[in-house]
Amino acid sequence: TSILILNGPNLNLLGTRQPEVYGHVTLTDIAEMCRAHAAAHDLEILFEQSNHEGQLIDHIHAARGRDLGIVLNAGAYTHTSVALRDAISSVELPVVEVHLSNIHAREPFRHLSHIAPVALGQIAGFGAKGYLLAIDALLDHTRGAE
Ligand code: DQA
Repeated sequence: TSILILNGPNLNLLGTRQPEVYGHVTLTDIAEMCRAHAAAHDLEILFEQSNHEGQLIDHIHAARGRDLGIVLNAGAYTHTSVALRDAISSVELPVVEVHLSNIHAREPFRHLSHIAPVALGQIAGFGAKGYLLAIDALLDHTRGAE
């Protein structure tokens, strides 16, 4: 069993990108944390990042029939992309939305998520720990449904 952990634009720059907002943790650190956490639950992860909307959509399509679900930090595409939302609706996989920062405490344009209505739920504001919470939420959901 595997889950896809998918990261959108600019998240490759974590560690140096606006550390006052996102902290000093790098995406590689987050991948390591996720891998260790998943291994403890007998779970494999695929950890991907892309700055390109279409490539993120391709990753979502590829998860269909392969992964249990998706942990998605779509970055700024969260607030703009109907296409990403449609991709999620199309594959019918459970998705947990994650944000490092509390998007609801930031600029008004970050308060809208196109992903949230098609996600199981949203975790925002807990930094890298949010990814681990999202993995747990996905597991509870899928194992509860077995
Ligand atoms: C983010 C929040 C988004 O508003 C922003 O565009 C990002 C990162 C977060 O993880 O807090 O790129 O998704």
